[in-house]
Amino acid sequence: MKLSYLIPFLVLVGAFPSNPLRTLEIDQGSYIHVKESEKLSLLRRGIRFIDVTSFPLIGKGSKPKDVAIYSYPEHTSQSELMDSIVNHIDKKSMYNDLAHFTSFYTRYYKSESGYQSALWLADRIYNVTYGLPSELVSVEKFEHDGWDQFSIIVSIRGRETPEDIVILGSHQDSMNLILPSLLSAPGADDDGSGTVTNLETLRLYVELLSQGYRPKNTIEFHFYSAEEGGMLGSLDLFTAYVEKQKKVTAMLQQDMTGYVQDPNDEHVGIITDHTTPQLTDFIKLIIDSYLRIPFKESECGYACSDHSSATKNGYPAAFVIESQMSSNNRYVHTTMDTIDRLSLDHMAEHAKIGLGYILELGNWNFEIKK
Ligand SMILES: *[C@@H]1O[C@H](CO)[C@@H](O)[C@H](O)[C@H]1NC(C)=O
Ligand SMILES: [Zn+2]
Repeated sequence: MKLSYLIPFLVLVGAFPSNPLRTLEIDQGSYIHVKESEKLSLLRRGIRFIDVTSFPLIGKGSKPKDVAIYSYPEHTSQSELMDSIVNHIDKKSMYNDLAHFTSFYTRYYKSESGYQSALWLADRIYNVTYGLPSELVSVEKFEHDGWDQFSIIVSIRGRETPEDIVILGSHQDSMNLILPSLLSAPGADDDGSGTVTNLETLRLYVELLSQGYRPKNTIEFHFYSAEEGGMLGSLDLFTAYVEKQKKVTAMLQQDMTGYVQDPNDEHVGIITDHTTPQLTDFIKLIIDSYLRIPFKESECGYACSDHSSATKNGYPAAFVIESQMSSNNRYVHTTMDTIDRLSLDHMAEHAKIGLGYILELGNWNFEIKK
């Protein structure tokens, strides 16, 4: 459809009465106040933000929380366990999950189909974790005020130090940047790929758990709602974690894991800005030890994905993405972010990052450094 046909419609949408002011943080400590409808035009111009409207304490520009620094392994110690499981990565199953997940018209967090896709994902997770004792594994639908698409928390309770929590995250929502409420957003790469990558990691971890394996620390898989609305779901969740005084010792976000621009230069991107350097170094070790491809460092800017919500709340976080930012998938946020453009082999590499990360940190003794 030509954009000119849409202009009268856009005017109509703009004239809608309920258009409250939102507080957006567009850089550390830098806030703007815009109408809900203007969030979209910011995103179209490539300006990312954290929507802190519902978190007045953060939005007041109070001093940012210091991020807790822990020691992380300098050598891997779980390669035997890793070897025993890594060949079980099932690309066919990943493909089927992604095909189903992208069949929802959009996973926009304010849409009915975005609610339906969350229900499907929760169902899929119930099936994957079925049969494990409830003292060991819990699946929670974490609901948010103001929209229906819930976040999902899968928690595997640690046997020795359950208070130490290691998180693997991704976001389940998608968005079409032209007209999110009208146009489709298959969101295969952003972030269907990360969702399915972490789901496969969970499936393999469940294989180990059902053979009697138990981690020392608690492992959590998070599937966030409303990342595209300005980290709304993850900010809600991590703020609640601080209120409950939960101790998160590491958070790793996987957002976009499927696109390879140049097969002769296949690599993963590791984000070095607005992330926790000590944890990022550990992720590099995981990639060097367990992947067939190297990493390249890259910068992503402020509020790039849900790891921002962790660091904002004082929790250490890292972020891996399919490649350096300059060779990322250009079709995201459009109707063309489809599964046929993605590499399941590349997603499998990202699943190895998730597996290595939870196997190593699941048995690590965390000591605070700062
Ligand atoms: C979960 O398992 C049930 C029973 O096998 C099946 O009917 C259902 O389709 C599955 N749901 C998902 C989302 O995989
Ligand atoms: Zn994303």
